[in-house]
Amino acid sequence: MSSHARVPSAAHAGLASPAQVTFSPAQLAEVRRLQGLYPDPRAALLPVLHMAQDTFGYVSLEVEEYVAGLFALSPAHVHEVVTFYTLYFQTPKGRHVVAVCHNLSCHLAGARAIIDHLEARLGVTVGETTDDGRVTLQSVECLCACEHAPMMQVDERYEFDLTPEKVDRILERLR
Ligand code: FES
Repeated sequence: MSSHARVPSAAHAGLASPAQVTFSPAQLAEVRRLQGLYPDPRAALLPVLHMAQDTFGYVSLEVEEYVAGLFALSPAHVHEVVTFYTLYFQTPKGRHVVAVCHNLSCHLAGARAIIDHLEARLGVTVGETTDDGRVTLQSVECLCACEHAPMMQVDERYEFDLTPEKVDRILERLR
């Protein structure tokens, strides 16, 4: 299913129109500073994309085009980077991001059942955002906490040794 079906309007994501896709003078100075840190300025692309996502809510095609211009890269090149990493959102993300690890240790410890449970509780599939914009659900590669499988990241926090009951308690805290 397309992730567009349940994406809430851009209003809550802080990006009202493509015309707003412009960094402030201070941010442009930071872009130049980051580019100056590397022999090849393009090495600063990832942190600048993070800055763009924090600023505009998500990395839309307009944002990709704007960032590409800052690096004299093609929009297609920037799009490839954005689509490669799960840390970049191409549609408005929820107020909370729940990212369940699906790699080997977590898979063997029941990650699929945890994902199924989250999908049922939230009414979305992986990659989607709830209609109220509360939660975006992701399935991600190993988060290097395999000894606590199955696990997931909720915003900045790791949640270990998941069970459906523990997942329910975690969801109740997310407003
Ligand atoms: S396999 Fe899930 S944290 Fe490593």
